[in-house]
Amino acid sequence: MEIIVTVEAMRAASRGARAAGRRIALVPTMGYLHEGHASLMREGRHRADLLVASIFVNPTQFGAGEDLDAYPRDLDRDMAIATAAGVDLIFAPKASDMYPAGYQTWVDVDRLTGPLCGASRPGHFRGVTTVVTKLFNIVRPDVALFGRKDYQQLAVIRRMAADLDMGIEVVGMPIVREADGLAMSSRNAYLSPDERQSALCLSRALARARELYRTGERAVPVLLDAVRATIAAERTAVIDYAEFRDGDTLDDVTSAADGTLLALAVRIGKTRLIDNCLLGEEN
Ligand code: PAJ
Repeated sequence: MEIIVTVEAMRAASRGARAAGRRIALVPTMGYLHEGHASLMREGRHRADLLVASIFVNPTQFGAGEDLDAYPRDLDRDMAIATAAGVDLIFAPKASDMYPAGYQTWVDVDRLTGPLCGASRPGHFRGVTTVVTKLFNIVRPDVALFGRKDYQQLAVIRRMAADLDMGIEVVGMPIVREADGLAMSSRNAYLSPDERQSALCLSRALARARELYRTGERAVPVLLDAVRATIAAERTAVIDYAEFRDGDTLDDVTSAADGTLLALAVRIGKTRLIDNCLLGEEN
């Protein structure tokens, strides 16, 4: 496996692969890799001849007062995980190369970025769609893989790729969880042992809603009460949002149906965690 740092070198590697008729897969990440990232990489390995993973903690998707400086980093460990998952090339650009002085161009997806994380993290998705567009333009993959852990992000990127005729297949992958149900996340590293236990209230709340749905409950206010009560049972948990929405449009719903999204963002101490599920589906 090779590490590439400059945009020019990445372009050259990609150009060479394409000229040789090789299919390219890209897995964009911010590093501090875990089994969730590795599952995307293994799928990318099956779908392409050249598997590229990017590692870039993208400053433009962090708001003021968010965890950009604290975001965990461990390139040696990341290299070991990426190698084991079959990655050929890691693209790890510098922030000053991605956003040189004078940078002023942004990609913005409209309605899908309004609710949920778009409402609680203003500017976040503009940073995500901009950096993913830049990565797509530099790597020029045939296929790119994203996790459903960041459900809204996946929906926004799918929309962007279609709307802007990017010609890249966007593949969504299942949420990978720890044995006790906690969705894997680089940010889990922030949790103290007590907080790690409290963090289980997210997956527990999803399970509670799914169970109520399975036994026939369809009224969103009733389902939401159960979700909120499950989270409120953890003293340190503070709900940022807990919402049922249409799984495709992310529009509000008052009645749940198969494919309805339940999306959660919860603060456990200083750590903001997200999780989600689609009702009536294996997740
Ligand atoms: P990051 O949080 O590092 O996640 C990289 C990819 O891994 C995303 O597609 C995310 O959905 C996926 N992922 C994370 N945890 C997962 C889990 N438990 N199960 C399955 N997939 C999981 O998301 C980002 O980085 C950035 O916003 C990025 C797209 C790289 C743009 O900067």
